[in-house]
Amino acid sequence: MKKFFRTHPELIYLNSGSHSLVPLSVIQEVKAELDLYEQNPTAGMFQAWQKLWSVQKQIAPHFGANPKNFFFRANVTQPLNEFILGVKLPPASEILTSDQEYGAVFNICRFRAERDSLNLKTFTMPSRQEISEMTADDLVDRVVSSFTPKTKMLVISEIFTGSGVVVPLEKIGREARARGIFTVIDGAHSPGFLKLDLENSSLDFYAGNLHKWWMGPKGTGFGWARRESFTELQPIQAGWISYDLQEPFASFAEGDPQAIRSLMLGCHDFSPFFALLATLKFWQEQGQNQIFSLKRALDNHLISEAERILGFPRFASKDSQMQGPLHSFLMPEKFSKIVFTKLIEDLLEQTKVQCSINFVNGEMYLRLSPHIYNNKDEITEALLRLKKFFTL
Ligand SMILES: Cc1ncc(COP(=O)(O)O)c(C=O)c1O
Repeated sequence: MKKFFRTHPELIYLNSGSHSLVPLSVIQEVKAELDLYEQNPTAGMFQAWQKLWSVQKQIAPHFGANPKNFFFRANVTQPLNEFILGVKLPPASEILTSDQEYGAVFNICRFRAERDSLNLKTFTMPSRQEISEMTADDLVDRVVSSFTPKTKMLVISEIFTGSGVVVPLEKIGREARARGIFTVIDGAHSPGFLKLDLENSSLDFYAGNLHKWWMGPKGTGFGWARRESFTELQPIQAGWISYDLQEPFASFAEGDPQAIRSLMLGCHDFSPFFALLATLKFWQEQGQNQIFSLKRALDNHLISEAERILGFPRFASKDSQMQGPLHSFLMPEKFSKIVFTKLIEDLLEQTKVQCSINFVNGEMYLRLSPHIYNNKDEITEALLRLKKFFTL
């Protein structure tokens, strides 16, 4: 697969969990769309909305979504703000989230709770020691047993950023729904790693990133809202789409009110969104199953080689359903005294391996996340270089 990407000749890139590389065809398409637009930005702007709808119609089904319930954003942080700050919740209700969420998303929950004097309750995600013995059902029980009669919104990641643990959402969604609890899912890492079937899911609100595992251009993500749940959403921003509609907005998505109300606001660069079609083409030509199985094979190689070469304890469950695209290894204690950004820089400079460092429950983890442009030999080579760095 390497031939489809421009990989750095010296660097071994093992941080696709933050941002993946994109196929060359996608980079070319972003540039071509920008060039086209800049020939006449006035016409480009007018035509952009219908073109965006055409892209939306092609991309949404890839994630099992009705295009009218699906909307583009530059990242997941934006739709998560719209969901978490916008869902209508009764006074004195409780927002439930976990203690291992992505920090920015936890802050959105905190902001909502403080703004509206709601209670923010945090449940404890399993520790490294606990998760190793847990099954997917145990994890469902852990989440569901944290619901209280006051819980009205659950905010949870589908794949945890620090540990890579995958949460079995379907049952959690059904249990939440039966109790009248809205589910807001942070799916930052899911598109491109898990097969999504949003319309048939038990969830209310879902935000996904397209610039991670799905290999879309940087600055692409989406939101999806179940139709019945969308009516429970108070907009947090207003613009041309808010009152009496005019063209080109009035005819967007055949005039569908939810799709229009979910549109991106104001002027911006449309080229990353239009170039999503090049990423879709890449998935269609290479085959989703082939991409998924290559990724799994590289993950398994990394896990067994990391055990052999590094020997650091891994944050993982024995249940393969819960194994995500990111792999976190507990770092030796002495490194925890170094500022993590400095450590990432030092690692890059001395090993030419791009990795990430994350904290879970206050412990420092080396996070390695390969993708299809890596190969087994370079993964082994990266681990040997890392071993040398850590033993110096
Ligand atoms: C779990 C999780 N949520 C949210 C985000 C934020 O993503 P973005 O900056 O693209 O909005 C990230 C980014 O790494 C993440 O890992």
